Amino acid sequence: MRFPARMSPHTFMRDYWQKKPLLIRGALPAVNGQVGPIGPDALFALAAQEEVESRLVRREAGNWSMVHGPHAHLPARPRKGAGPERFWTLLVQGVNLHNNLADALLRQFNFISAARLDDLMISYATDGGGVGPHFDSYDVFLLQTMGQRRWRISAHCQPELIEGMPIRILKHFEAEQEWVLDAGDMLYLPPQYAHEGTAIGPCMTASIGFRAPALAELAGEFLHTLADDLDIPGRYSDPGRKPSRKPARIDAHMVDALANSLSRVRWSRFDLAAFLAAHLSEPKPQVFFDDPGAPLSAAGFARQARRLGLCLHRKSTMLYTGSVLCINGERLALPSPPGRAPLLQLADQRHLPPAACAVALADTTIRELLHEWFDAGWIEFDNRQSNTNLLA
Ligand code: SIN
Ligand code: CO
Repeated sequence: MRFPARMSPHTFMRDYWQKKPLLIRGALPAVNGQVGPIGPDALFALAAQEEVESRLVRREAGNWSMVHGPHAHLPARPRKGAGPERFWTLLVQGVNLHNNLADALLRQFNFISAARLDDLMISYATDGGGVGPHFDSYDVFLLQTMGQRRWRISAHCQPELIEGMPIRILKHFEAEQEWVLDAGDMLYLPPQYAHEGTAIGPCMTASIGFRAPALAELAGEFLHTLADDLDIPGRYSDPGRKPSRKPARIDAHMVDALANSLSRVRWSRFDLAAFLAAHLSEPKPQVFFDDPGAPLSAAGFARQARRLGLCLHRKSTMLYTGSVLCINGERLALPSPPGRAPLLQLADQRHLPPAACAVALADTTIRELLHEWFDAGWIEFDNRQSNTNLLA
């Protein structure tokens, strides 16, 4: 991915991220008018699958309708200039989970923490199609991957929505800026920025989406894990208490006993970091891993890994902090050097070249661990070679 001249990921993060929109012309190279791996037919094939999350949005004379997939049959694709009743948009969520090249596109954004990355959504719209003026609660990069789309945006977003619509459409929207994006152009929008994208002829847009978990949700989840590990011995006791004159009242002695026990519960910044790594690396509920088919012996696995290298499966998430490494929600203690470096490399770069594999495999515990992950479908032999071709 290319930033504009004189802009680096560093200046982008400092000046734009979470602050203001940025239009990047030619952010990714278009080959034959298309960016990245997915054209309309591949997208429609994905939308027909049961395990792929998709929505079909239609605007019919000022009314909006939305139907969840799978979509075995899509409405006819009207030609440019057709009546407004024929506008439709197909949105396919999590394309990166189903296609290695889509995953490679998402990983172009690895200058932002993996804990913040959500998914790659791709939409196909017929001429005039779009999902109406709205705002999102998350940062998004809107990359035009085919055709043209007009984006209209506004910082001043009144949150009222049109009632009774199946999707969130702003009641009031007045654009402050607008641009037509061609294939390869990209628009970054911070959260809460009102926007409306309208297809000019059939077009496709990829949304690189981020997640920003509610702090209340994270805190609640953390307190749950704390409760699971809680070790408070003993039972309430009250020898020598006086006869009660108000038997319905909770007395201070009981409150003190509980307060006393709870005051002994401790948690540290490290516990928080380890919780975040485990929680944020958990696969989404709809994500399932396939085992690699024919199992390999330990020796066969090690031989292939040394020859080809290893990489994380596109559905896998690996996060770490201090001495804790989490993969797909499972937590383990990082081994000491020299085995530690290759595991961190696998987490950060998502692949491990043959030489680094050899270092990792020399340690029996790591070898068994990697073999286990391979059998679970969490890692695979390196497929990077085929990925780079398409995005080059
Ligand atoms: C789209 O691709 O049509 C929708 C993207 C967005 O507005 O968030
Ligand atoms: Co949006």
